[in-house]
Amino acid sequence: GTDPARAQDLAGRHVVVSAGGTREPIDPVRFLGNRSSGRQGLALARAARARGARVTLVAANVTLPDPDGVDVVHVESTAELRDAVHAAAKDADVVVMAAAVADFRPASTAGHKIKKRDDGVVAPIALEANPDVLAELAGELRRPGQVVVGFAAETGDDAGDVLEHGRHKARRKGADLLAVNAVGGGLGFGTADNEVTILDASGDVVGRAAGSKDVVADGLLDAVVHLL
Ligand code: CTP
Ligand code: CA
Repeated sequence: GTDPARAQDLAGRHVVVSAGGTREPIDPVRFLGNRSSGRQGLALARAARARGARVTLVAANVTLPDPDGVDVVHVESTAELRDAVHAAAKDADVVVMAAAVADFRPASTAGHKIKKRDDGVVAPIALEANPDVLAELAGELRRPGQVVVGFAAETGDDAGDVLEHGRHKARRKGADLLAVNAVGGGLGFGTADNEVTILDASGDVVGRAAGSKDVVADGLLDAVVHLL
């Protein structure tokens, strides 16, 4: 950050950030995945480092360069991400789940490439639910004094607007902070600029941050420092 008051307000802290998007293997050459670039997570890792933290970045399929001065663990699947985040979280003061974690995975992974059939019949892929890494950290794995932060990309729909979905998710997840951003209409995935509303565990608005992903990262870390 450029604000000198923020300069070293995370000194002596260990901050864990997950970034990117997990991929669940279907067979040796195919996967279920998502379009997350990892840019917001990388910005968070850089900002935490600049504010004096020791940073562990768990990067799921991030193709951007590793940030300087940050311990990076590269992972692919949700199972790998979960193991890496749990291990790093053991002595962490802050865990930020910025990764887009696949909600489902194939119930089994074929050991060979699935071939198409001459009769055109396509076999369905059975899915099973992945563990919710954020809910685990905020629930059974909760460590005293550790600040747990989630991200939620939401669109409005018949069931409610972006903030209503965010409030509901904040209560369901139990994370200390949930950064909610509206996606669709050019905001969010793959774009340079971002806008988040920061909710606490009861769904109340405790902050907002808008601008580049670096500005959003520092705004979210301000809310984190407030809780430490
Ligand atoms: N998350 C997680 N493990 C999962 C799914 C999500 O840790 N299996 C985390 C994400 O990293 C993010 C937060 O939970 O910080 C919210 O993710 P999101 O996909 O918005 O929430 P879901 O609970 O999966 O709800 P839905 O996709 O149905 O909106
Ligand atoms: Ca999800």
